[in-house]
Amino acid sequence: MFSTNSRDLRFLHGVKRDEHRMRLSKSCIGREEGEAVLGVLEREFLGMGEDVRQFENLLAEFFGREAVCVNTGTAGLHLAIEACGFDPGSEILVPSLTYVASFQAITAAGMTPVACDVLGSTLTLDPVDAERRLTKQTKAIMPVHYAGGLGDLTALYSLAERCNLRVIEDAAHAFGSTYRGSRVGSFGDTAVFSFDGIKNITSGEGGCVVSSDAGLLERIKDARLLGVEKDTDKRFSGKRSWRFDVHHQGYRYHMSNIMAAIGIVQLGRFPQFAEARRRLAGIYQRRLSSLKGLLLVELDLAAVVPHIFPVRILDSRREQVADRLSAEGIQTGFHYQPNHLLTYFSDARRGEYPVTDAVFGEELTLPLHPDLRDEDVDRVCDIVAEVLDGE
Ligand SMILES: Cc1ncc(COP(=O)(O)O)c(C=O)c1O
Repeated sequence: MFSTNSRDLRFLHGVKRDEHRMRLSKSCIGREEGEAVLGVLEREFLGMGEDVRQFENLLAEFFGREAVCVNTGTAGLHLAIEACGFDPGSEILVPSLTYVASFQAITAAGMTPVACDVLGSTLTLDPVDAERRLTKQTKAIMPVHYAGGLGDLTALYSLAERCNLRVIEDAAHAFGSTYRGSRVGSFGDTAVFSFDGIKNITSGEGGCVVSSDAGLLERIKDARLLGVEKDTDKRFSGKRSWRFDVHHQGYRYHMSNIMAAIGIVQLGRFPQFAEARRRLAGIYQRRLSSLKGLLLVELDLAAVVPHIFPVRILDSRREQVADRLSAEGIQTGFHYQPNHLLTYFSDARRGEYPVTDAVFGEELTLPLHPDLRDEDVDRVCDIVAEVLDGE
């Protein structure tokens, strides 16, 4: 048992700022998250119990429908696909320009990813390109909400309706974003969120699935606990099943109380996180929009809570900009290596990917997280402008 005297949260006092280094993204953790974790440790019930139940209830209020928590976003995608019950090898349309997690989840569920191209404006799944890659085996579309933006989700849902496809939204980047006035996850078929360390909210690692399909959520609840039927209800009342049956493949994908305790605090802080992300992204947009040689990715900050800030640097000057920022102690990233170029997913390649291939050579992600100050973003913009204007 912890004694309260032994609490030492010195490591959590204030924001630890390294003036010589600007991180691309980071967890924003304060004293409250530390206290919440200590609370779980003191109760000595670390697994899945009351805190997870409470986090799920708060998420259900946030989305306006039931949310099922899992231990990663990837696990959520895997379970959501598997719970659809498609025939093995069925095809799922997915943008090639996504984190490898989307592709791995599809193959983990025994399905075939079919890589699609993206729209140049938003870097989200191109509905026309997706339709071109449809076959008799296509059973679902997985739009990826790149940077938090939704792209042409209406066209993707209408394609799904016309062709009788499920839609599993990879909403890892889009916690808190809205589309046409509705919060992502509150409408549509199924959406999966990630709460890993750098996402719009974090639970350390973690994720959740929301869906209009109550049966799918019930199957996921069992599958996250090794397929043990109705174990969720027992865990939430501090018990577990000793005698049970199993009908389906299951996984150890449930969320722990430690993770949920962090998530609960982060959800409470989300309005401030969202405001900071939008404000900082707004500075980038204002400062960079008129720069020659740079293209912004379309993000409507009135609707979107941006998870990353991607730009396209034209004329082969991306490395030059990245190197200069790095020399100034500023981290940058690349989102993403196209999956159709990865050895394991080379079969997902069907024809050409002109936009994705172009973006691969141009995309650069600039620092964005709620602990950045306005002057940090101004400094990044000054340096980018200096490199691009300097020739
Ligand atoms: C687009 C996308 N999909 C899925 C995931 C997987 O989420 P997790 O890291 O929680 O497994 C991520 C995480 O970075 C992501 O960026």
